[in-house]
Amino acid sequence: MFKQYSKRTCEMAGGLVRAVGMAICSLLLTSLVALAVSGQPAGMRPPVLKDVGIDQLLNNQVPPDLTFQDEEGRTVRLSDYFGDKPIVLSLVYYDCPQLCTQVLTGLLGTLKTLPMAPGKDFTSITVSFDPKEKTPLAAAKKREYIERLGRPEAAAGWHFLTGEESQIVALTRAVGFRYVWDPVTSQYAHASGIMVLTPEGKVSRYFYGIEYAPRDLRFGLLDASAGKIGSLADQIILYCYQYDPTRGTYSLVLMRLLRIFAVITLVSIVGLILFLRYQSKKKDGRSSGNNSDSGGAKPKIGYSHMSILPLYLIPFAPEQASTFAQEVDLYFLFLVGLTVFFTVLVGALAIFFMVRYRRRREDEVPEQVEGAMLLEITWTVIPFLISMFIFAWGAKLYYEMYKEPKDALEIFVTGKQWMWRAQHPDGVREINELHVPAGRRVKLTMTSEDVIHSYYIPAFRTKADVVPGRYTMTWFEPTKPGTYHLFCTEYCGTQHSGMIGKVVVLSQSDYQNWLAGGTSEGSPATNGEKLFASLACSTCHQDQNRGRGPTLAGLFGTQVKLDNGTSVLADDAYIRESILNPRAKMVAGYQPIMPTFQGQVSEEQILQLIAYIKSIGGKQDGAANSGGMAPAAATPAPVGQGAAPPATK
Ligand code: CUA
Repeated sequence: MFKQYSKRTCEMAGGLVRAVGMAICSLLLTSLVALAVSGQPAGMRPPVLKDVGIDQLLNNQVPPDLTFQDEEGRTVRLSDYFGDKPIVLSLVYYDCPQLCTQVLTGLLGTLKTLPMAPGKDFTSITVSFDPKEKTPLAAAKKREYIERLGRPEAAAGWHFLTGEESQIVALTRAVGFRYVWDPVTSQYAHASGIMVLTPEGKVSRYFYGIEYAPRDLRFGLLDASAGKIGSLADQIILYCYQYDPTRGTYSLVLMRLLRIFAVITLVSIVGLILFLRYQSKKKDGRSSGNNSDSGGAKPKIGYSHMSILPLYLIPFAPEQASTFAQEVDLYFLFLVGLTVFFTVLVGALAIFFMVRYRRRREDEVPEQVEGAMLLEITWTVIPFLISMFIFAWGAKLYYEMYKEPKDALEIFVTGKQWMWRAQHPDGVREINELHVPAGRRVKLTMTSEDVIHSYYIPAFRTKADVVPGRYTMTWFEPTKPGTYHLFCTEYCGTQHSGMIGKVVVLSQSDYQNWLAGGTSEGSPATNGEKLFASLACSTCHQDQNRGRGPTLAGLFGTQVKLDNGTSVLADDAYIRESILNPRAKMVAGYQPIMPTFQGQVSEEQILQLIAYIKSIGGKQDGAANSGGMAPAAATPAPVGQGAAPPATK
């Protein structure tokens, strides 16, 4: 019991190790993405009017001793408003026909939805930068806006100031607000925006435009209050959002999240490697020498270390044990290499350009470069060629792996929650194991009795879905005797992870011995013949079309004429369908009288019936050779030991 458990743990650990490999790849990809993200060109400043604008003088101290008149005509010092609350500062002039009204209306809209209240959580100060404007106007504006806000209590927290020119100039300079009097239109030319100050009166944030997202302003105020306002949750959200100075808004900091996850991934990988190494050392010390396994194959399931990579600590790939393995690995290595190459190239170039083209003077404006045809063609054509090469190589590999092999040993596999059953041509069956001879092509014809499973032998680099109601094929040629992992790689229920087994590759002679020692229950074809009789198929399907159903001798692999005028190839899928759903494809000239055998025969029995039908002959004339069919045995398959495989589909 315990041994079983530890073996399973070890096998699952093998899966984890591969997962580590995947994680490293994804980390590489992540860093590539991160580079791509960070490699965006820094936002260039749009040309601005020289004398108008808002400069970001972050952390600048607003002079606290500047004096203004409030809306009631009292002389106030700015320091009167400093202290324990952050400050929203808006610079407008009350008679402004356009922008200033927009600024105040925008601010008003934001304040309406903000969960914080002026006076309670922050102070709002609106200052006119037109020295000609006086208290009565300010008072009127205040009345209007407090009324529109609908919160009379906010009156204590929103101040409308006017002042002398010297004080105005000092204030606007301190916060980087530049404006000019335009005599042509008799208006001030100015930019629009608001500022958030810390409780001490230092500039904390700028918000441009005339509309300010409540979320942004809220974060801005939280920032400014330096943690004095807001709950812990706010602080966490704050960490994930960061102010984007080029856009004047807060945005989710993708890079920050990426970094957090990258660190978690890295720590997990290192921890896992150390843990697995510790485990395997402990196990090696305990269980050496007391392994016995069927077939006398070497019991240890090994992983080869790709010595090319300096990752020899990590068992990076399973052993190469089939004719496919080497090329698949080479292909994979090529992809990894390509990824690493471009990651390094892009990273190195990014760093080089950062240094080479760094900003040398404060007022340096980069030259706008446009049009580099040669460069564009180069970096279009080269990746195109590379991706076509990847495609061609991958397609070649795929084609080789999914093309029907010639002269293969055919083994039937059925998947079922949660086990793998296999039946050899001479009838030997096994569960969760697969014994195959080395140096011979082995074709697996597979189907499932319940849900989708997937038959995966990492050491062979082969994997194929096993689908209910359908036959799928995979093949391989094992190259060396040994024991290898067999996994289900399609999540198929609670015990999916336990749907594992082993593939034992034996030498030709060992395989024959193994077959001889197995308990044969008759070949699939003979079992199928028995079923054919016991299900009374033979009463209708008689020789030379004497029965009520068409004769089945010589049927397999031929084209069958249907009553709708079309014809269909008599292959595994067609025969299976005709057993389970006889009316789906009616043979021309016959009545739809055959009952369905749905629920009466298992998938395994259907395979046996198909094997029997194959054994009583396939196409003899070669007329239907277009489907790439291997010649089928024209004579009934010999029964019992050492039988040739039934005719391949
Ligand atoms: Cu069968 Cu997962």
